[in-house]
Amino acid sequence: MDKLVIHGPTKLKGEVTISGAKNAAVAILPAALLINGVCRIENLPNISDVKMYCKILQELGAKITWITENEIEIDTRDLSCTQAPLEMTSKFRASYYLLGVLLGRCGTAEVGLPGGCNLGARPIDQHIKAFEALGAKVDIAQGKITAKAKKLVGTSIYMDIVSVGATINAVLAAVLADGTTTIDNAAKEPHIVDLANFLNTMGADIRGAGTDVIKINGVKELRGNATYSVVPDQIEAGTFMLAAVASRGNILIKNCIPEHLDCITAKILEIGGTVEDYGDSIRVSMNKRPNKATVKTLPYPGFPTDLQPQMGVVLATADGTSTLHESIWESRFQYTFELNKMGAKITAQGKSAVFEGVKELTGSPVYATDLRAGAALIIAGTIANGETQLYNIEHIDRGYENIEEKFRNLGANIQRVTEQIEM
Ligand code: EPZ
Repeated sequence: MDKLVIHGPTKLKGEVTISGAKNAAVAILPAALLINGVCRIENLPNISDVKMYCKILQELGAKITWITENEIEIDTRDLSCTQAPLEMTSKFRASYYLLGVLLGRCGTAEVGLPGGCNLGARPIDQHIKAFEALGAKVDIAQGKITAKAKKLVGTSIYMDIVSVGATINAVLAAVLADGTTTIDNAAKEPHIVDLANFLNTMGADIRGAGTDVIKINGVKELRGNATYSVVPDQIEAGTFMLAAVASRGNILIKNCIPEHLDCITAKILEIGGTVEDYGDSIRVSMNKRPNKATVKTLPYPGFPTDLQPQMGVVLATADGTSTLHESIWESRFQYTFELNKMGAKITAQGKSAVFEGVKELTGSPVYATDLRAGAALIIAGTIANGETQLYNIEHIDRGYENIEEKFRNLGANIQRVTEQIEM
C-alpha cells in the first residue's frame, strides 16, 4: 500500500495548473455511449476513476484509443451488452450514470448499486423517480438496479431535492427520448453545464443547464464526429486556493474558471486573504493567521461540500472559534478526528463542527477517509511541524492527478512511499 510522507511546515509558493474536472469526466465518459459514432474527449484528468470508467465502457463494447494520458478517441457504434460489470461498478458512485445512458440508448440497463465515498446514506430515489417519470420500470434486487422501457417519453420531472447525480441521470435518459423533458429544481454545478455542452456538441438539444430548470428536446440520435475538452476542475482549483491560505503562501492557480470559485473567493477575502482574478487563472495569497469564520455548505453556487474538509484545515488554525455546517452529507466530518491527532481542537456533532483555532499543528500518522478528506490531510501535513504519514491514499488517487508532484512543485516536502506489507 502507498502512503504519503510529508514534512512541514512549508509556505506553498509558485504555480499549479488545474486538470480536467473529475465530476464532469465521470459523467461525460458514460454519456459517450449515447453516441452512435466516434468522438474525442480531451483534458480528461489522469485519475483512477477515469481509468476505471474507460475499462467499464470497453466491457460494454466501446472501442477506446488513448491519444495521450489525457485524451481518448471513443467509438460507441457497437455496444455488446447492457449489463455493467458488478465488480467494477461497485467501486465508485458515478457508475450509476450507466443506468441513464443504457436506458436512453438501449431501453434496458443493469448496474450494480453504486459505491463511492462513505459520506453517510446516499439514496438514489430521485434517480429512480426520473427514470419512472420517463416511462421506465425500475427494480432493485441482489445488489443491482435494473431499468427497462419500450420507449422513453419526454415529461416534466420535479426534483424533491437538489441532486447532482439525479439531475445528470435524468438528462442522460432524456436526450434520446420521444418529445421534451423539463427538469425542475435541477442542480446547477459546473459539471452539469459541462455535460450539457458535451452532449449538445454531439447533436443533443439541451437548454438551461446551470439554471434550476433544464429543458431537453429528445433527438433521434447523436452523431458524434466532434472533439470536446473537459472543463477545469472547480474542486481541485478550490483545494489549492485553500492550501495557499492554510500555508500562509502565495499560489497562482492556472487553467481554472474564476467565476466557478466566487464562493471560495468570498470566504477567503472574509478571513483576511488576497485573491486576484486573471480571467483563466487566479492568485491567492495569505500573510497572516486567518480570521475565524462560519461556513455552511450548499448546492452550487453555495460553498461546495467537496471543499468542506479543506476549509476545515484553514479553520483549525484560524484566530478564534469557527463553525462549519455540512448541509449536503450526513457524515463528512471523519477527517476532524485525524486533524485532532495533529493537535487541532475540533468538536464534530452531527452536521456541524466547532473549530477552536490553534496556533499550529503537529505531524502525525493519519488516514484518508475519503477523497476530499485525503486532500485536506495533505494540506494539514504541509503546514504541520514535523512528519506526517498519510495512509489510504488510494482515495486521493481517485480524483486528483499527480497530487504529490503538484504540491512538491509548490515547495512541499512530500514523498509517495510504497509500504512493504510483512506477510
Ligand atoms: C455528487 O455526488 C459528487 N460526486 C459529490 O462529490 C458531491 O459531494 C455531491 O455531488 C454534491 O455536490 C460526483 O459528481 C461523482 P447529490 P452525488 O445527489 O450526485 C441526496 C467528490 O468528492 N440525494 O447531489 O451523489 C443525497 O443524500 C464527491 O467528488 C437524495 O436524497 O450527490 C445528498 O444529501 C463526493 N436522493 C444530496 O441529495 C437521491 O436520489 C446531494 O446529493 C440523490 C441524492
